Amino acid sequence: MQHHQGRLEVICGCMFSGKSEELLRRVRRAKIAKQRVQIFKPSLDHRYGLGVVSSHDGHQSEAIAIESPLSLLDYLEDETTVVAIDEVQFFDPIVVDVCRHLMETRDMRVIVAGLDLDFRGEPFGAMPRLMAEAEEVDKLHAICVVSGEAATRSQRLVNGNPAHFNEPVIVIGAEEKYEARARSYHEVPGRPEPNLERNGNQVHKPNAPALYKHVLEYVLIDEERLQDRITELADEISSDYADDPDVILVGILKGSVMFMTDLMRRLTVPHVIDFMDVTSYGAGQRETSGNVRILMDLEMSITGRNVLIVEDIIDSGFTLDKVVNLLQARQPKSLKVCTLLNKQERREVPIKLDYVGFDIPNVFVFGYGLDLDQYYRNMPFIGVAKAEAAGQS
Ligand code: IMP
Ligand code: MG
Repeated sequence: MQHHQGRLEVICGCMFSGKSEELLRRVRRAKIAKQRVQIFKPSLDHRYGLGVVSSHDGHQSEAIAIESPLSLLDYLEDETTVVAIDEVQFFDPIVVDVCRHLMETRDMRVIVAGLDLDFRGEPFGAMPRLMAEAEEVDKLHAICVVSGEAATRSQRLVNGNPAHFNEPVIVIGAEEKYEARARSYHEVPGRPEPNLERNGNQVHKPNAPALYKHVLEYVLIDEERLQDRITELADEISSDYADDPDVILVGILKGSVMFMTDLMRRLTVPHVIDFMDVTSYGAGQRETSGNVRILMDLEMSITGRNVLIVEDIIDSGFTLDKVVNLLQARQPKSLKVCTLLNKQERREVPIKLDYVGFDIPNVFVFGYGLDLDQYYRNMPFIGVAKAEAAGQS
């Protein structure tokens, strides 16, 4: 029998909830109705070919192990009307498009089974989208090994201890085991508490990578606001230098790197770039001391040229004050300062700022070039660090 309409069924739940068993039950019923079924599963060890899907009740069925959801299409036979995919959470999110293709172009019935949540209790891979797009979603439960309640979470234990939130989601061959647990018995050290503060600037990114989650209190300036403001700054700078268009942008390493690259991309005046590395004595200190040391000087001569210093953040102002004095002594034609962030409250030395991206309160921020002990410079937003994280040296 053919299907006249494609449809998606999602079977989800924690480990030991009987997802594969339910998948195979549906496959068997389709086969009894003489429908042609193919079963696929991810091959996590890079081996293609035949495998089996087995459920805890001992049932087994042949399955094709594939690495990318796209190779499913290579194995697809003409007569197939039902496609079943087990462990779908491990697949690349392109699996959503593959399923849509099967349903919308080939009118197939697609049944997928997978973990809705990873061991941390966070949505797993493409599952949220598959669940949203499905005609039918069944959420199965296991039984909590601690309380006997319905279990919805998969507890990862590494050498007997609950795994930390920050551990990778997929670990192959580690000394670990899993247990089904109810929400209140699911332990994930380091899992961020729900943040319910009503802060206008706060942006929740539930699907963002977990890399920074344990150090992030909240997002102060999200990527969009950041980029919009940088466009405005670049427009302003381009128009200010339009009549005298020869500028040396001096980036102060390392914090200004992200800002510098995004800013220069949007400048419409001719310019060159150079960098300088400065540090305050006592690396690792969060409070700048008055002593600032030049670690790397400019390569170019700035004498008689327009100089625009590009900084990530001005805090006490000691760093910038030293840089300005040093560069001023080389007699540039003009010397201006552009900073992405300004903590005015913390100022100890008066500084004249020509371009300021954002005035921010006295909080320790990271991301977009700014570091937390040298890490997290790659985050595309400016985040406020948790007190514990900002307090470490
Ligand atoms: P200042 O000399 O006190 O103005 O400090 C400026 C330098 O301190 C910046 O270039 C940053 O490297 C660092 N800094 C100040 N505040 C923060 C922050 O909130 N996060 C990360 N780095 C910061
Ligand atoms: Mg810096």
